[in-house]
Amino acid sequence: MTDQSQKTILRALRGEVLPTPPIWMMRQAGRYLPEYRATRAQAGDFLKLCYNPDLAAEVTLQPIRRYGFDAAILFADILLICQALGADLWFETGEGPRLSTVTTPADMAALKPATAIHDRLSPVYETVRILSRELPRETTLIGFAGAPWTVATYMIAGRGTPDQGPAHALKAADRATFAALIDLIADATIDYLSEQVKAGAEVVKLFDSWAGSLKGPDFTDFAVKPVARIIAELKSRHPGLPIIAFPREAGQGYVGFARATGADCVALDNSVTPEWAAAHVQVDGCVQGNLAPGHMVTGGEALVRETRRVVEAFRKGPHIFNLGHGITPDADPENVRLMIDTVRGA
Ligand code: CP3
Repeated sequence: MTDQSQKTILRALRGEVLPTPPIWMMRQAGRYLPEYRATRAQAGDFLKLCYNPDLAAEVTLQPIRRYGFDAAILFADILLICQALGADLWFETGEGPRLSTVTTPADMAALKPATAIHDRLSPVYETVRILSRELPRETTLIGFAGAPWTVATYMIAGRGTPDQGPAHALKAADRATFAALIDLIADATIDYLSEQVKAGAEVVKLFDSWAGSLKGPDFTDFAVKPVARIIAELKSRHPGLPIIAFPREAGQGYVGFARATGADCVALDNSVTPEWAAAHVQVDGCVQGNLAPGHMVTGGEALVRETRRVVEAFRKGPHIFNLGHGITPDADPENVRLMIDTVRGA
C-alpha cells in the first residue's frame, strides 16, 4: 500500500463504511504485555519510559508487532502537560498519579505560559518522529492529549478522585481561576498536539475521561466549548487533520457531540449500548468503540458474542473497533488475539 490516504483508519475517519472495521485498543501498550513490563523495568519507572524516545517508541511498537493493529497510539500520558506547565508530577506505585495542586490565583500565576511547554515535551515529539519512520506503512499513528477538564481535575486535586470533587468545588468557589486554568490547558494542548502533528502524528485523540461528571451547562462550558476551540484551531493549522474525541460517560451528551465540537469521530464508553449509539451517535459520522474491557480478562464465548454484537451494531456506518476504555493489567493477551480474529472474521 503506497497511498497513505488509503490506510483503513483514515478511510473510516473520512466516513467510509468498510466491510471490516479497523481495530486498535486503548492502552494497547501496557502492563498486560510481558514485553511492556520488561521495557518498563529497563526504563526504571513509568515517567522515565514516557520521556525516553527510543523506549517509548519500542513499547508503542510492541502491540503492533504482536497483533498487527491498524493504529499505533503514541506512548505517553495525558498528565505530562501538567509537568510542562510547571506542576510537580510523580506516580505512586500501585496508586496512580500525584501532582502539586492548583487551587488559588497565586498557584495559577506560578504556572508557566502555554508557549513554554516544548522544552519538557520535546522527547515526546522525538518519539513521534521515530514512530513515523518505523511503523509499518499500513499502520496509522495516533497522537493524543487529555481534554482540559480531565487534565484540570488532576491539577486541582493533585491526584485521581472518584467524583472530581475538588475540581467541582473550585469551579463553584472561584470560577475565574477555574476558567483561567481550563483556558491555559486548552492553549497548551493546541500547541502540544500541533507539534505532534508536525512530527508525524496522522490523527489526534482528546481523552476526556471525566466528562461524565459535568452536567447541564457545565458540560457545554467545559466538555464541549474548550474541545471545540482546540479542534477548530488544530484544523485551521492542519487542514484535513482527523480528530477523535472521547467524552467518556457523556450519556445523552454523546448525541450531537461531533457536530458541537467538530470532531470527526466520537469514541464510546461502555455506559451506552452499541445499538443505542448506532441510532443516536453514528448518524453524525464515525464512531469508535465499545467492547467492555472486562472481556479481555474473561474471554470465551461471551467475548466472541459481544465482539460480534459490536461489529454488527455499527456495520451500516463508519466504525473503528476499540474497547470502551483501556485494557486492564490483568487481561490475558490471548483474549486480545481472539477479539482481533473475531473482528477480522478469521
Ligand atoms: O492508550 C495507550 O496505550 C497510550 C498511552 C496512554 C497512557 N495513558 C499510558 C499509561 C494514554 C492515552 C493514557 C491516557 C491517560 N492517562 C488517561 C485518559 C484515558 C483513561 O484511561 O481514562 C488518564 C486519566 C491518564 C492518567 C493516568 N496515567 C492514570 C490515572 C494512571 C494510573 C492508573 C494506571 O492505569 O496505572 C496512569 C498510568 C499509565 N498511563 C499507565 C500507562 C501504560 C500505567 C503505568 C505503568 O506502567 O505502571
